[in-house]
Amino acid sequence: MSEPAPHPSDAPPAEATAPRRAPQLVQVEGLAKFFPVSRGPFRKTAFVHAVEDVTLYVRRGETLGLVGESGSGKSTLGRVILRLVEPTLGRVIFDGVDLTRLREADLRAARRRMQIVFQDPLSSLNPRLQVGEIVGEGLEIFRLASGRAEREAMVAAVLDEVGLPRAAMARYPHELSGGQRQRVGIARALAVRPDFLVCDEPVSALDVSVQAQILNLLSDLQDDRGLSLLFISHDLRVVEHMAHRTAVMYLGRIVEMGPTPDLAEKRLHPYTRALFTAVPTRGGGVRALNVLQGEPPSALDPPPGCAFHPRCPKAEPGRCDVEIPPLRELVGGSHHRVACWHPEA
Ligand SMILES: Nc1ncnc2c1ncn2[C@@H]1O[C@H](COP(=O)(O)OP(=O)(O)OP(=O)(O)O)[C@@H](O)[C@H]1O
Ligand code: SF4
Ligand SMILES: [Mg+2]
Repeated sequence: MSEPAPHPSDAPPAEATAPRRAPQLVQVEGLAKFFPVSRGPFRKTAFVHAVEDVTLYVRRGETLGLVGESGSGKSTLGRVILRLVEPTLGRVIFDGVDLTRLREADLRAARRRMQIVFQDPLSSLNPRLQVGEIVGEGLEIFRLASGRAEREAMVAAVLDEVGLPRAAMARYPHELSGGQRQRVGIARALAVRPDFLVCDEPVSALDVSVQAQILNLLSDLQDDRGLSLLFISHDLRVVEHMAHRTAVMYLGRIVEMGPTPDLAEKRLHPYTRALFTAVPTRGGGVRALNVLQGEPPSALDPPPGCAFHPRCPKAEPGRCDVEIPPLRELVGGSHHRVACWHPEA
């Protein structure tokens, strides 16, 4: 199973094939998730504002990248969109259907079309099942195969698609390498023929040497199948390569969103600017934002006004610490939005 290890930059940039006019498959409106937690000596209930007032869309065949520091709410947003976590407020419309209103039975059918690939394939794959069973499980749940023989043929075909040999069917996750395990995670998600895939840090747990292979596999699968992706990562360089558009998240909110090349060039939000100068670490984290002061505040007590104001070199007292800046387009028709009272020129 040896493969060449192309660097992501070997492929044409996502922008070159951006599906700018494709219809919107996923629409998220005013989405919020507050987790109740008890704190203090009297165990009073407080709320973690993991996701706040998020509005976005993903077109068919498009990759929307989602970046931000640890704890900014990326995974929660991905899970709420898939309704693996119930939203507190807002709507998710998938292919014209409001998922947030669906009952469990109808939601099950919609679930087949929306899958997730997790960061750590070892903990997200059942260690007691063989690869064939892991990948075939969804086919059984959604009754996509008429019998055992057809199921096996479908599993073999999807393993082939992700670059695993048929013999992998009889293996257990612990017998595989990290990269092979993530291929199994991708095969499991793809087996049920989804239209939308949330990839939650799909390469952060992998060796640098195999990261590019998995990224290229995801790009190829997107091209072949016309998949829409929400691609979550700490690593701006990875998102820059993978995503047609990018959304930058800070303490639960989108602070900047736009076509990736435009966002990377203009960096309108001071936080985006800081992220671009921060260095991603091998563990998947982002090292201290050395151009800025202070740690990210807690989502339990988000600062008033612009949540970034305690760390922002451009903060205007009396405004930035009072009024929440709306996510707005500075240039009409640019599809590049920023939530800042004093965006970079
Ligand atoms: N089930 C939960 N109960 C309470 N708080 C939660 C829960 N899940 C997430 N949180 C909190 O919500 C916030 C957002 O977490 P989330 O995992 O979505 O961030 P993230 O951007 O994915 O971080 P990372 O990059 O570390 O994966 C954090 O403050 C986290 O502690
Ligand atoms: S709104 Fe104010 S505090 Fe927030 S990023 Fe813009 S300038 Fe900085
Ligand atoms: Mg996460």
